[in-house]
Amino acid sequence: MQNLTPTRGAVITGWGTALPNKVVTNDDLAATLDTSDDWISERTGIRERRIGGTTSGLAVEAGALALQRAGVDPSEIDLLVLATTTPDDQVPATSSKVQHELGLTCGAMDINAACSGFVYGLVTAHGFIANGCDKVLLIGAETLSRITDWSDRSTAILFADGAGAVVLESVDGPGQLLGWNLASMGGLRHILHAEIGGHLKMEGREVFRQAVVAMCESAEAALENAGVSASDVSLVVPHQANIRIIDAAMKRLGIPRSKAAEVIHRTGNTSSASIPLTLVDAIDHGRIAAGDILLLVGFGAGMTSASAVIRWGGHRP
Ligand code: UT7
Repeated sequence: MQNLTPTRGAVITGWGTALPNKVVTNDDLAATLDTSDDWISERTGIRERRIGGTTSGLAVEAGALALQRAGVDPSEIDLLVLATTTPDDQVPATSSKVQHELGLTCGAMDINAACSGFVYGLVTAHGFIANGCDKVLLIGAETLSRITDWSDRSTAILFADGAGAVVLESVDGPGQLLGWNLASMGGLRHILHAEIGGHLKMEGREVFRQAVVAMCESAEAALENAGVSASDVSLVVPHQANIRIIDAAMKRLGIPRSKAAEVIHRTGNTSSASIPLTLVDAIDHGRIAAGDILLLVGFGAGMTSASAVIRWGGHRP
């Protein structure tokens, strides 16, 4: 893979999130499952999660906020990319519904790279911007609760619903993206999968083990591609699957644990939505300043992994 030589880059100029109103605590789950708040908190970091809504509904809510924040009219968007592994329908793509409901007049497509979907979408959006799009709306949205077996304690404690969105606008020159990596190990797809119409089935321990390796390899490849080192990173925005996966990955990457952003305690694992939910939370809490180098890193079913190194640049110059 060659280093980036873009003549037309992009910056994130708007962002928004959506979470369903219904809060499900660990105690709520323990009322019907053989589990406990202590076990779930200690083994995963999750204390509560949000359940409800539709993927398109959450995507529209987050997307509208991102457009508003960017000060961009829906008619100005040149492409909608929706990362989701839980579409509303088999056909058509959920992005077509989101496009219509947001009043966009552009092309729209879904990307399914499971929990790596948002970063796959981010890299895709940059490719379209390099090829002439001026403004792209990227959304990660999921209703994993629809494909969760609520009688299976090994998965029901983890998965949840939500959405996060960003507006990307073109700039002359390199833009925010310094480097990236996309990967997939399709031979491992059996360790986390759901058949059409079925529930998520997972070999938890094996996913955990593979996730740490895949995250770190992807992150290291993206850092190298960006020409920066782990010590240059101001904040890691990791996929929120398990707090112990984040702990292990930060240790292996040699980045202080305090530099990891996290929302898992209140969101659970929202797959494609987890990285934008975490990014926006970090922005809202003042953890990101202009010039900071961010490492976005995801992994998920497939097994996919994806990383993007961004130099945060604030608004479009
Ligand atoms: O987006 C990517 C998707 N997924 C992931 O990243 C998930 C990756 N895996 C994980 O996060 C963890 O493997 C889990 C949270 C799913 C499980 O944690 P673990 O520490 O790997 O537990 P384990 O599967 O090794 O099970 C340990 C014990 C077992 O009991 P025994 O055999 O030691 O008596 C399980 O039966 O914990 C038991 N157990 C539970 N106990 C209470 C499993 N699930 C639960 C539960 N409550 N919910």
